[in-house]
Amino acid sequence: MKISGNTILITGGGSGIGRALAEAMHAKGNKVIVAGRREAALDAVTARNPGIESMLLDIQDEDDVAAFALQAIERFPQLNAVINNAGVMKPENVPAADNLAIAEETIATNLLGPIRLTTALLPHFLQQPRATVLTVSSGLAFVPLSATPSYSATKAAIHSWSMGLREQLKNTTVEVIEIAPPYVQTELLGPHQAVDPAAMPLADFITEVMTILETQPEAGEVIVERCKPLRFAEATGTLGQVFAALNAQHG
Ligand SMILES: NC(=O)c1ccc[n+]([C@@H]2O[C@H](COP(=O)([O-])OP(=O)(O)OC[C@H]3O[C@@H](n4cnc5c(N)ncnc54)[C@H](OP(=O)(O)O)[C@@H]3O)[C@@H](O)[C@H]2O)c1
Repeated sequence: MKISGNTILITGGGSGIGRALAEAMHAKGNKVIVAGRREAALDAVTARNPGIESMLLDIQDEDDVAAFALQAIERFPQLNAVINNAGVMKPENVPAADNLAIAEETIATNLLGPIRLTTALLPHFLQQPRATVLTVSSGLAFVPLSATPSYSATKAAIHSWSMGLREQLKNTTVEVIEIAPPYVQTELLGPHQAVDPAAMPLADFITEVMTILETQPEAGEVIVERCKPLRFAEATGTLGQVFAALNAQHG
């Protein structure tokens, strides 16, 4: 990806990885628009970073996504990148049957959301001299966490969808890049995660992601060092071992 001079929409840009990527991309000379449901979180980002813009979005809501995409294109005609970062992660106890509402919310947010938004933006992207669709999967796409089966499944699906879309767009000016974070210090699972020493510090993660994007502009996947044991578990024949260790730690 060419790392500057883009107009980038970042879903879930009001907190965590999305906010940190928004600030890093803004610092690199990109026009950045952050989107999400919590106006106060978005306002905090725009107040601290003059030039970043914000738009309200509920990515779970199909009608909202379609209207939002049209509005975003109208307001920012040079829009040429989206980071499909918004996501939810909630534990599910399937035998206790507490899971269906969580599964539906997770699939609507993490899987249907990026598919709907990207589909709505793509005709516009295809008219740009160059454009980038970024997806945010997870190390758990490759080795599932048993406590969050639907979450892990949506991330595996996003990996698969990203590969398929990349192939469909290979002869166009639109590139597809998947960012697969490891366990990172954000509030995805609650405030405790942001201070969990087992999680990668957010600033370190963003620095490594930006370096990969900058130094490997042709990379289809952004896999930081900490994520490699998960990403390549199957290929290195360690899937069973890594799955057991991951779920003994966190399960
Ligand atoms: N942190 C990790 O360990 C880790 C690891 C692997 C992958 N990831 C992925 O990284 C991405 C960012 O997560 P994070 O760790 O930065 O956690 P986070 O701070 O909780 O960020 C999630 C963002 O998604 C937004 N969001 C959730 N539901 C939404 C909806 N219906 N419509 C619009 N926006 C919505 C939230 O904003 P609002 O609540 O304001 O809408 C929030 O800003 C997620 O896709 C997550 O799965 C994180």
